[in-house]
Amino acid sequence: MKAVLGIQVGHDAAAALVIDGRVVADVAEERFTRVKNDSSFPLHSIEFCLKFAGMKSVDLDAIALPSRYLNPEVPVFIDIPNDRLPAEDRTLASRVKQSVLNYVAPGRGPATTLPLYQKPIALGPQCLVELVDHHRSHAASAYYTSGLNDERTLVVTMDGIGDGVAVAIWKGENNRLELLKSWGAESSLGWFYSNATEALGWRHGSDEWKTMGLAPYGTPKAGALDGFHPMFEGGELKQGHKYTGGGAWLDHSAYHYHFDDARPLADIAARLGREDFSAETQRVFEFQAHELILPWLERVGTRHFCGAGGAFLNVKANQNLWYTGKLDTQWVYPNPGDAGLAVGAALSVYFKYNPRARHEQLRDLYLGPSYSDDDIRRVLDERGLAYEHVEDPARTAAADLAQDRILGWFQGRMESGPRALGNRSILMSPVKAENKDIINRCVKYREAFRPFCPSMLGERAGDYLVSSREERFMITSFAVRPERKAAIPAVVHVDGTARPQTVRKDINPRYHDLIRNFGELTGEYAILNTSFNVKGEPIVCQPREALKCFFDTGLDVLYLGSYRLQKPKRPQV
Ligand SMILES: [Fe+2]
Repeated sequence: MKAVLGIQVGHDAAAALVIDGRVVADVAEERFTRVKNDSSFPLHSIEFCLKFAGMKSVDLDAIALPSRYLNPEVPVFIDIPNDRLPAEDRTLASRVKQSVLNYVAPGRGPATTLPLYQKPIALGPQCLVELVDHHRSHAASAYYTSGLNDERTLVVTMDGIGDGVAVAIWKGENNRLELLKSWGAESSLGWFYSNATEALGWRHGSDEWKTMGLAPYGTPKAGALDGFHPMFEGGELKQGHKYTGGGAWLDHSAYHYHFDDARPLADIAARLGREDFSAETQRVFEFQAHELILPWLERVGTRHFCGAGGAFLNVKANQNLWYTGKLDTQWVYPNPGDAGLAVGAALSVYFKYNPRARHEQLRDLYLGPSYSDDDIRRVLDERGLAYEHVEDPARTAAADLAQDRILGWFQGRMESGPRALGNRSILMSPVKAENKDIINRCVKYREAFRPFCPSMLGERAGDYLVSSREERFMITSFAVRPERKAAIPAVVHVDGTARPQTVRKDINPRYHDLIRNFGELTGEYAILNTSFNVKGEPIVCQPREALKCFFDTGLDVLYLGSYRLQKPKRPQV
């Protein structure tokens, strides 16, 4: 077993390729289709993964699907020999292929065969088709990228729901994952947080970070949300919560969700005020997560922790888990939502068939497409744009930042996961507090309360952060040292925290050079880094999308590889 392709079909569709136990490519379909949270079958992502590795689909040793149930779209797009599926799914696959059109008017129902211009994905005779449980896929994404081969490890997975499970506890040891306990929908802390997010007028399943960003502006009102969430005690579910009226709807090919609880919660939000409501939502989530997780650390007898599932996008809860002092290792898979399931399923299958193989810690998330300087120059010339070639973009860009210019920074392979990590980023100096407001108003077109995050030199992180550690993926926040808050005010949240990316020279040398040069000019070895996208759209993937964003926002300067574009006039704000 060598090459495994993971394919997430559904919310946050994605594909990932694992070769010899290493993730070599991973991308969400939204980056190609430009529809945030795209839920269509991830054809573009699959094509990219195979092309990147120079492979054809018939060369694959396995495809890994992160669900216990075969999604009916899979046998439509992939030519799976019937004997390759588990018995119960053979019937499902053939049923889908044969019969859907029998029950709906011709031309109105879902297609069961592809149009002529879309060739089905062919598999070789050696290729296995493996269905991997949703939460096992989440657990595998964290454990098999953690580098914890020998240490006994607690792995916790939490999300809205997947394969009927909302919370699961795993033990990782000797490169195996053992399920210790799981709970169903009634345990869903993810749905609670998402319902509260909808109550604030935002989207369940994608906007939860807005609630988290607003929370520090309020004061928790203990007990105000009783009756809307599950309660854990001593590592067990003490009282579940019955979620009713839940459902998904398709908005431009992306699934979004709604539950009945959102309405009464909105009444509570109106009574408490949005800030206090958010603060209480966050308090409940953190309290319940601790009641769940901390006892299991003792039961499993470890100080090594891995987490995955969308609930682990809550960087504040991750921070407070770290600050309990009960962990030596905290590894949250940096793409913990369902877009990370393709990676998890593929790793799970690889290590199932290679039980003695060892894994390395995931080094970086630069797993998407890249474009050479030649590619970029062609795009610029085709559009007749004025640009200059710069010898040392890291030096020139640092000078731009020191003059408070807002930069688009497009380099190398695109990041997978929700964070821009210095390859598809918008950058600005963090030393003036008003820079946060300028970017919110003129580039991101969003609410003023929303915080921005710093990228800092790994070797300088201790200068800025309390109890810092290497944090390459912006998946945990930290308290900022009180004496340093005023030095980088645009990237310190109202509660005195920051969600940093620590940058290593050996992993991203050009980005490291940029921050170092900025430090030599200003004395601060940290910059403001936010994702390179237009509001409501996915992070840019191709140079032409970076150009659209550049001209559609208040960006001053754009770096595309070694090329620099500058607007003739500073936008008026
Ligand atoms: Fe999930």
